[in-house]
Amino acid sequence: MLSRLLPIAALASTALAHGYIASPPARQGGDASIAACGRSVVDTVRADNTSHVEGLPELAAAAGSGYHADLCNLWLCKGLQFADNVANVQSYKPGQSVNIQIKLTIPHTGNANVSVVDTAANAIIGEPLISWDKGYADERDFYAKKTPKDQVNFNVTIPEDLGDKCATAGACVLQWWWYGTGARQSYETCVDFTVAASS
Ligand SMILES: *[C@@H]1O[C@H](CO)[C@@H](O)[C@H](O)[C@H]1NC(C)=O
Ligand SMILES: *[C@@H]1O[C@H](CO)[C@@H](O)[C@H](O)[C@H]1NC(C)=O
Ligand SMILES: *[C@@H]1O[C@H](CO)[C@@H](O)[C@H](O)[C@H]1NC(C)=O
Repeated sequence: MLSRLLPIAALASTALAHGYIASPPARQGGDASIAACGRSVVDTVRADNTSHVEGLPELAAAAGSGYHADLCNLWLCKGLQFADNVANVQSYKPGQSVNIQIKLTIPHTGNANVSVVDTAANAIIGEPLISWDKGYADERDFYAKKTPKDQVNFNVTIPEDLGDKCATAGACVLQWWWYGTGARQSYETCVDFTVAASS
């Protein structure tokens, strides 16, 4: 809808940018991600780390894309693989407060959350650490420069009951997931972390 009102140059940029976790350091694409997801998927994510997931399956489906559905797991961290991020693992303590900063570049009002995800099961552990049911990244707020600060700079508390589930690097990610309800696009960023077994 909005794009109809925008000049061509701005229209081109709407394809380019939406949002990502700027801090802590997020999972990046590299050779392992290319081996799992194919070069076109990973190049697209690398060219624009704010891109939406829905644009990727079409690239993956193209003949000769090098995409392996079972290895890539496109809906988890946009298919970016832990093996490319072993140097980027955050070490947290149970109960620790972790500051998260989101870079929003193009708004699409919707819902969002940050969760601990068990990567092997591709399932959230427990409840989201924080969530917004609606009104996240609202266009009117954004263009009025009134995006609520707590949507883009907030703290989450690392659960105390993870046991040893996240003791091994790669076993868990902190995943930020925002869905723009009007745009029907999902944005995801993952942070690799460990929490030492509590007993
Ligand atoms: C995302 O991409 C922007 C623009 O290329 C870059 O400045 C930024 O460092 C990247 N951040 C992450 C977390 O990948
Ligand atoms: C996050 O936690 C830190 C340390 O407790 C605190 O200084 C900071 O103000 C908090 N930030 C937000 C946005 O609540
Ligand atoms: C987290 O947000 C995503 C995107 O809106 C949504 O699909 C998912 O159901 C949410 N997860 C939970 C546990 O609420």
